[in-house]
Amino acid sequence: MNLLITAGPTRERLDPVRYLSNRSTGKMGYALAAAAAARGHRVVLVSGPTALPEPSGEAGGVRTIQVESAAEMAEAVRREAPEAEVIIMAAAVADYRPKTIAAEKIKKKPGDLTLKLERTEDILAGLGQTKRPGQLLVGFAAETNDLLDHARAKLVAKNCDWIVANDISRPDRGFGADTNAVTLLARDGRTLELPLRSKAALAEKILDLILPVSSAF
Ligand code: CTP
Repeated sequence: MNLLITAGPTRERLDPVRYLSNRSTGKMGYALAAAAAARGHRVVLVSGPTALPEPSGEAGGVRTIQVESAAEMAEAVRREAPEAEVIIMAAAVADYRPKTIAAEKIKKKPGDLTLKLERTEDILAGLGQTKRPGQLLVGFAAETNDLLDHARAKLVAKNCDWIVANDISRPDRGFGADTNAVTLLARDGRTLELPLRSKAALAEKILDLILPVSSAF
C-alpha cells in the first residue's frame, strides 16, 4: 500500500532569526513510517524540522520530504495525497503564523511587542473534504483536557476514519517522550484504549488496528 505520513512540528518564520513552533519531536510519526515500511508498504514521510535521522537508511521503503512551515507541509501533502491509500497526519501543524515576515531582524524597543498572527490552512480538514472512496484518513488529537470530547469533535469536523487521541499533559506520553499511550476513536463509534508502551510498539499496534486486513504481508 502507499502510505502518506506527516510528522514533527512546523516552524512559522517571524524574521530571519526567529520562528514560532511547538514541542513536537516527530518521534511518533517517524515510528509509524518505519513500522509501515518494515511491513513492506511504500511510505512518503512529510516531516517538519526534527533532530531524527531520516528512516530511509534502515527501512528502504520510506521517501522523506523535509518541509518547514505549515504552508510547505500543505503543499507537499497536496502533491502526494492522490497516490496514498492511507494518510496519517501525525504532525503538529501550527494553527497560526506571523501575518508578516520581517525582512530584517526585529530590534527590541522599550515596552511590550504585539505580534499579529493569521490562521494557517487546516491540512487534515482539507484532506477530509477531498477524500476519495477507499482512502483511509487518520488524524491525531493532541489535548491537555477533555481528551475524548475534543478528539471526537475533530474526527467529525475533519471527516476522518480514525483519530488518535493523545493526552499531552503527562510527561510519559506525547511530545518528546519515548513512550506513548493513546485512545483510538473510529468513525463507527469504536473506542480502543492503547496503554503505555514504546512509540515503536505503539506504532505497530496502531497499524495493526487501522490498516485493512488484506494489506498484511
Ligand atoms: N492539523 C492539520 N493542519 C493544521 C492543524 C492541525 O492538518 N493547521 C491536523 C494535525 O496534524 C492533527 C489534527 O489536525 O492530525 C489535529 O491537530 P490538533 O493540533 O490536535 O488540533 P487542531 O485542529 O489544531 O485544533 P486545536 O488547536 O483547536 O486543538
